[in-house]
Amino acid sequence: MALQSALINVMAAAARKASRGLLRDLGEVENLQVSRKGPANFVSSADTKAESVLRHELERARPGYGFLLEEAGAVPGTDRAHRWLIDPLDGTTNFLHGLPHFAISVALEREGQLVAGLVYDPVKDEMFWAEKGKGAFVNDRRLRVAARTDLQQSLIATGIPYRGRPGHDVFSRELAALSDRVSGIRRFGSAALDLAYVAAGRYDGFWERGLSPWDIAAGIVLVREAGGLVGEIGGAPIALDAASILAANEALFGPLSDILSDAGG
Ligand code: IPD
Ligand code: CA
Ligand code: CA
Repeated sequence: MALQSALINVMAAAARKASRGLLRDLGEVENLQVSRKGPANFVSSADTKAESVLRHELERARPGYGFLLEEAGAVPGTDRAHRWLIDPLDGTTNFLHGLPHFAISVALEREGQLVAGLVYDPVKDEMFWAEKGKGAFVNDRRLRVAARTDLQQSLIATGIPYRGRPGHDVFSRELAALSDRVSGIRRFGSAALDLAYVAAGRYDGFWERGLSPWDIAAGIVLVREAGGLVGEIGGAPIALDAASILAANEALFGPLSDILSDAGG
């Protein structure tokens, strides 16, 4: 049984509390599919509500820490050393369509370094969590990235740019270059879970361009603590405002990075 630290307990309790509202709202979203207006407005209030629960719970447990919230933006704290990075609902399009694949993502930065990450999928009740130097876990099971070294056997996840966002040409080239070299490519619609699944060895790799800090912060800690590599496509060290992200085990990171840079450049 993995022993969660006080910090992870605080993050997990906040995520569980926020998830209750999301699960209730998912039921309503399923009903709203058949209404002409659809569930769009309802969903934007679902994630704002989840965000306030997370903020309230974390503020109570760790007064003074700052926040970077997807919905409310940056909230500076009195404690300059600590900042929470939060996506209250990663996988909004899935949620909007009643597809049960989404997550809450919470990470903690200390002195500018990511020190803890938690991605909670309330539908499957899978809590992925990791603390710097202490390993990565799902519920109470330790995680390791996949050991696969043969690119041809690998299953790779990605994200497709949304309508109205740039990068469709680059994405099409990357997809064309890679789909012929790997066993399969998946687009499940939650970058936070994509990274958690790399940490869990379910995917052998993941790449996407144009993500935001709250999409990737917790997942970066998970992948690193599960023994994987995270960087930009091309190999530059990852930053929260990076233009791209690539995560994989040590053997596959280089080959994937080369194929994607050749295709994208
Ligand atoms: C999105 C998801 C998706 C990714 C998008 C993100 P959201 O986050 O992570 O998988 O492809 O780029 O914006 O909007 O559902 O929080
Ligand atoms: Ca997101
Ligand atoms: Ca979101």
